[in-house]
Amino acid sequence: MTTRDFLGKENYNISSETVSESCPSNIALIKYWGKYKDQIPANPSISYTLNHCKTNTTIEFLANEVFSVQTFLSGNEEVKFAEKIEKYFKNIEQYLPWILKGKYIIKTENTFPHSSGIASSASGFGAIAKCMMKLDETFSGKDSDEVSLQKASFLARLGSGSACRSLYSGLVVWGESDEVEGSSDLFAVKYSDDEIHSVFKDFNDWVLLIHEGVKSVSSTVGHGLMNTNPYAERRFQEARENFVPMKEILKSGDMKAFIKLVEHEALTLHAMMMMSDPAFILMKKGTLEVINKIWDFRRETELPLFFTLDAGANVHLLFPNDGSEEKIKTFIENELLQHTQKNGVVKDVMSF
Ligand code: DP6
Repeated sequence: MTTRDFLGKENYNISSETVSESCPSNIALIKYWGKYKDQIPANPSISYTLNHCKTNTTIEFLANEVFSVQTFLSGNEEVKFAEKIEKYFKNIEQYLPWILKGKYIIKTENTFPHSSGIASSASGFGAIAKCMMKLDETFSGKDSDEVSLQKASFLARLGSGSACRSLYSGLVVWGESDEVEGSSDLFAVKYSDDEIHSVFKDFNDWVLLIHEGVKSVSSTVGHGLMNTNPYAERRFQEARENFVPMKEILKSGDMKAFIKLVEHEALTLHAMMMMSDPAFILMKKGTLEVINKIWDFRRETELPLFFTLDAGANVHLLFPNDGSEEKIKTFIENELLQHTQKNGVVKDVMSF
């Protein structure tokens, strides 16, 4: 597939329509950090799609009105978000040629707390891309489900890179990798369920809300700082290489190796931030305290509780539903919750 395969159809017939879609968030195990022009990732990434953290979006399209976008988040008008979406729609016109021929009223709600620091851009752009594909099918005819999902992922990527992975359930890969057949820089693909050991198919992701509020450095700025990071090329290479053990681990169910690889990826992401110019640190005191407590707990109990981080201070606590989860949950409630700002934890699960 090339970018050309996603160009819009010449013949379309627009009408005023209202569409609604929902899209979950995702958490990366091998991280996307660094990109080239047109949202091409510097390395492949793989993520779990969450079950509960979602964005629900309704788009009202008023055909043949002057192009404009109005957005509401949980009922409150968000002018900055509308500006972002206007720019995004102009940017994807070649793929949806009717897109600027009307007015939009976009209402969106997240099922997770707004100030939690949980990335809403992945679920948000995922839901918008799905809505736009629904409109496209009404105006220019329906493609096969597979093609339409792929185009939704392609369009979501142009809004926010990690969003393209949220279109699929289970484990999802974005970015070309020799290890994953059909993988592409242009859209995400589902990692085959048949290649995943059952222990990885029923997992918890409890997000400890260490620091609620706006991050000091946005992901977009962070990606940009990889352009001048002297360690960037080595990092991109390492991420590509990490797909080799990851593939074996997912097949064999080797939990120890999985934990080591996933934690290494999270710490590497933050090490890259510290080695940027200017340097920045998104982890807080609580992030480090939790990490150390997790390591102590694993040393003492050998139970499979581990962490990953996204571009922020919150800690994603990962653990399987393998019979050990009750002990782990008790430990989290008794020992880790105290490091959050307001006893904040979002409990999600990945089961497929
Ligand atoms: C650390 O997808 O939010 O979560 O493409 O600029 O919108 P943009 O960035 P974004 O970056 C996510 C970075 C990450 C790692 C990951 O999800 O793979």
